[in-house]
Amino acid sequence: MTFEKQILCIGAGYVGGPTMAMIAMKCPRYKVTVVDINSARIAAWNSNALPIYEPGLDALVQKTRGTNLFFSTGIEQGIQAADIIFVSVNTPTKTFGHGAGKAADLQFWEKTARQILVHATNNKIVVEKSTLPVRTAEAMERILNQNTKNIHFEVVSNPEFLAEGTAIADLENPDRVLIGSQETPDGLKARKAIVDIYAHWVPRDRIIECNVWSAELSKLTANAFLAQRISSINSISALCERTEADITEVAAAIGKDARIGAKFLRAGVGFGGSCFKKDILNLVYICQSYGLTEIAEYWESVIRINEWQERRFVRTMLESMFNTIAGKKIALLGFAFKADTGDTRESPAIVVARSLLEEHADVVVSDPKALDNAREDLKDVPQALSFEVDPYRATDGAHAVALLTDWQLYRDLDYERILQSMEQPAFLFDGRNILDHKKLFDLGFNVFAIGKAPLKHF
Ligand code: UDX
Ligand code: ADP
Repeated sequence: MTFEKQILCIGAGYVGGPTMAMIAMKCPRYKVTVVDINSARIAAWNSNALPIYEPGLDALVQKTRGTNLFFSTGIEQGIQAADIIFVSVNTPTKTFGHGAGKAADLQFWEKTARQILVHATNNKIVVEKSTLPVRTAEAMERILNQNTKNIHFEVVSNPEFLAEGTAIADLENPDRVLIGSQETPDGLKARKAIVDIYAHWVPRDRIIECNVWSAELSKLTANAFLAQRISSINSISALCERTEADITEVAAAIGKDARIGAKFLRAGVGFGGSCFKKDILNLVYICQSYGLTEIAEYWESVIRINEWQERRFVRTMLESMFNTIAGKKIALLGFAFKADTGDTRESPAIVVARSLLEEHADVVVSDPKALDNAREDLKDVPQALSFEVDPYRATDGAHAVALLTDWQLYRDLDYERILQSMEQPAFLFDGRNILDHKKLFDLGFNVFAIGKAPLKHF
């Protein structure tokens, strides 16, 4: 079969894999190839055990792989053949040198740009999919267009808004698709080529076209606003615990105001994930570099509240368990940063587990999908730590249970059975406010939720 267009995606991660699988599914006349330097990852994409867990992804890959979706380590051939190259390599926060702890580390991005430069033999559209600092497209365009091969590269920004756990639904039915380009004739032509891909299934009024800087900044701003809502509700949760207000009731009441809206008002142990902290730090760094100190401090406080909320959760555990947890078995239900994913990047569970271990607690980590990542996150920890996928075994003989991920599975457990197997008095800390606290209290648990008065038998 001859394909109308060849699309390449460099970086077979959480963003690249699902996005390309959806494009392949919706655009059967396009050949979509996903490449990565990590050959184990590519082998996994070609197997029946995909490297990431995402509901609906297996079925999507099954339908398209080998037909018009291909996973390969052949970066060089991929670049040569492609008309359009999506770049979704990792852009972590810099850990060294200037801007360490805030700026984005663009080494993988720049290496990719140079690879494209070396192997390309004709004009290409290069699409930024990774979250990048504003004006990265400009730098990339400079690197790419300084070639002596007479090849023209047009850089387009198409930031990804998918959330993990709902990636397939988000890709299939996005709120919006954002496509930013230069406003030159070549830029507009490249923009149209990307619009054409999404127009295969996304209603045209949801495809937003804008300049390249707006597209880049919109991605950072969207994540900063979302994270800010969580820090805002979490800050009020602390006040609820001191008063007789209940955070769920407060969130429901304010969420009814159409201007505020009901979503993203769930108080909890804190936000995690690969994007929120990284993107805010990035925004902070950009503001600082433009001398906008007050703006940088404003956004930085969103992260400070998040870290404070994580620490506050551990402090509540410690104080309520008579100020000592040394030698006490504590079961952590959930380690992923949210439900329906095995991803643990920036998960609040990492901070909670480490803090409990510092207090010499005997920690058992349980999670249906994230235990491999949890083992990796805690591999340097010498203290008493174990991993147990079965929640009943994890909680057996425990003094306390801390629920850290909002998996449906944890809503449906037999808590009476769990209580019977635990040390008494039994403590339950609901870091996601997903359980029926009154019912658990009536069973005999001492229940501590976020933003609610504790329910204690003593
Ligand atoms: C986020 C953005 O939602 C997405 O648009 C962007 O492309 C990438 O970053 P993701 O990190 O996958 O997606 O997950 P998200 O659902 O946003 O949750 C992030 C964190 O916030 C999780 O730890 C979640 O548990 C927490 N959260 C979310 C809350 O604590 N309360 C809420 O009300 C919502
Ligand atoms: P994201 O969540 O943004 O998708 P991931 O870390 O899951 O990030 O995926 C990024 C992928 O990019 C990784 O699989 C990594 O191996 C790959 N990668 C990084 N640099 C390159 C490169 N120069 N060429 C090909 N793949 C790369």
